Amino acid sequence: MDKGIQIAIDGPAAAGKSTIAKITATKLGYTYIDTGAMYRALTYKALEEHIDVYDDEALTHLLERIDIELTPTEEGQIVRVDGEDITEAIRSQEVTSNVSATAAQPHVRELMVEKQRLLANSKGVVMDGRDIGTAVLPNAELKIFMTASVEERAERRFAENTKRGINRSMAQLCKDIADRDKADTERIASPLKQASDAIFIDTTSMSIEQVADEIIQHAEERKRP
Ligand code: CDP
Ligand code: CDP
Repeated sequence: MDKGIQIAIDGPAAAGKSTIAKITATKLGYTYIDTGAMYRALTYKALEEHIDVYDDEALTHLLERIDIELTPTEEGQIVRVDGEDITEAIRSQEVTSNVSATAAQPHVRELMVEKQRLLANSKGVVMDGRDIGTAVLPNAELKIFMTASVEERAERRFAENTKRGINRSMAQLCKDIADRDKADTERIASPLKQASDAIFIDTTSMSIEQVADEIIQHAEERKRP
């Protein structure tokens, strides 16, 4: 019987991680965990409570007292904090502009990693983020590092924003993405980088189906009998 493996998907913003992770999890019957949503939820709460997004201690206390809940549904993942549905609110420009600051705080990261490991405990999991293969699940059976050009990623976000009614130009989106890439790769605490044993996929010219097929094929090869 298939006991389920751990699949870690890392990469920069709008590389396609969550889209592909969701498809892979559904196909394999695994649990999908979007760790970026957890950092976004903390950032949302910090902004609401006027907590400085560079104050590691205050953020860590906040994280200790809130309950972040991720619930998969047919329509996608529902994110709740202390019971409040913040699924849409965590995608706002304000949260996006501040999330890399909260995510750079070392104690915040330690606590997040602890929570994420507990969530992944059941095996049969697809987890996406920035440090999954390097810090959260270093023993994951399959690690993927996914990227795409900045222009392609900005176009993908532009299309998403149009659907959400968010008005941001291509030039602004390219800058947003490049700034977040820089903050995420240059921070001291577990920066975004490819794990030495991760498979690299450049999705710039690939369709969602092509990327998903490639990952599912790797996953099938690694599943234990
Ligand atoms: O969806 P998008 O690629 O825009 O970002 P996300 O996955 O929602 O992550 C938002 C931010 O959280 C990232 O830019 C990182 O600063 C941080 N993050 C992190 O540091 N580590 C993770 N495992 C996941 C997200
Ligand atoms: O999770 P991450 O920020 O890496 O990216 P995402 O939210 O999964 O993908 C961003 C957008 O790009 C979504 O609207 C996807 O439908 C789209 N996408 C795409 O057009 N082609 C791909 N190969 C992957 C994603």
